[in-house]
Amino acid sequence: MRNDIDLDYDLAAEIIEDLREDPMGEWFDLPDKTLASTLGDISSVAKEVQESSDYLVCVGIGGSYLGTRAVYEALDLENSEKSRTKLLFAGNSLSSFELKKILKKLEGKDFSLNVISKSGTTLEPALAYRILKKELISRYGAEKAKSRIILTTDPEKGALREEAEKNGYKTFDIPLGVGGRYSVLSPVGLFPLAVAGCDIGQLLNGALECKNSQVSSDSLETSMLVSYAFSRFYLYDECGCDVEVLASFEPRLLYFNEWWKQLFGESEGKNKQGIFPASVIYSTDLHSLGQYLQDGRRNIFETFLRVSSEKNPLTVPAEKDSHDGLDYLEGVPLTEISEKALQATMKAHDSGGISTFEIEVLDEDAENGISERSLGFLIFFFEVACAISATLQGVDPFDQPGVEKYKKEMYKLLGK
Ligand code: PA5
Repeated sequence: MRNDIDLDYDLAAEIIEDLREDPMGEWFDLPDKTLASTLGDISSVAKEVQESSDYLVCVGIGGSYLGTRAVYEALDLENSEKSRTKLLFAGNSLSSFELKKILKKLEGKDFSLNVISKSGTTLEPALAYRILKKELISRYGAEKAKSRIILTTDPEKGALREEAEKNGYKTFDIPLGVGGRYSVLSPVGLFPLAVAGCDIGQLLNGALECKNSQVSSDSLETSMLVSYAFSRFYLYDECGCDVEVLASFEPRLLYFNEWWKQLFGESEGKNKQGIFPASVIYSTDLHSLGQYLQDGRRNIFETFLRVSSEKNPLTVPAEKDSHDGLDYLEGVPLTEISEKALQATMKAHDSGGISTFEIEVLDEDAENGISERSLGFLIFFFEVACAISATLQGVDPFDQPGVEKYKKEMYKLLGK
């Protein structure tokens, strides 16, 4: 983290206050408010789905999808024994091939649907819902299918709200002041994650820890979050760095990267400006984009994510008469080798003229190195940092006027 930048803590406090008061700033209070209000309801519906279904198909796109997938993959809930119900993700593309794959997986399995769309009119999830609902009804009959459809949408209006009212489907509200990419800690992410066995109380606790330790009025001067938000703006504004690369050494953070890119890309990329969010998973990408990072254009800065090591890593086994020249690593855990690779990469990129940040979220109790608590902390950390950064750049962090353009063209071509 750079420490030669004059951080304006009064400005930081002012921005945070404005964000909280913004009509779209309700997400700021999700860590405390959700804990108190909807957690019970979410948990009991989640239990019903666990009893009835092998799969919960989450139908949604963008902010209504990526946060859930990020946590699901980071915690490897697919392979966890915490819940028999696994998640499938649909409605996040227009690919017939992908949807067929999901229908195939559902053959002979019990399933429920969670359609997540604030507007209720987004084409990709709406089409997937139609197709999957048909399958559900033909499998269980219209009456029984009712208890297998859960809609997460606007509390008052929209196509999904009407659909729920007409058919008596269970719903969860996406609070009015919570936009898609800031919604993972609302029922958008919490409900499907609870179904998949995630400890959503701990996810929210991690976010609350971040809120209390990084953005409360008495924490700003020691806040890494404020420092990160202001430093990245400094690199952009003063040093011409208009690309940020999020880097980690854990492939299970691939979808965390995707969530992060959507959060920053849609929040900052406006008025022909903004930092372009890119990502890498090392060491895979050291054999690919690593070359560019080390030697390419110097308009990049890099943010390394470090998480705790897993508790029981594999170690390098002994081998008689070996030819691979690796005997010096005998008995060394792979986690230690990966940690050295991280340190080496940071050093090499730093010497190559790349400014680097390092964000560590350690949870020593986490069996697999990444826990609900650490993810909740990280999610809230980046949400607030992103909103501060966008404000510093003079753009509204909560709108996305650009995504409407392609829709207009597409609907024209489709004859809507
Ligand atoms: O962050 C956002 O606001 C967007 O990415 C939306 O989440 C995405 O477009 C899906 O919108 P909706 O939930 O209305 O279907």
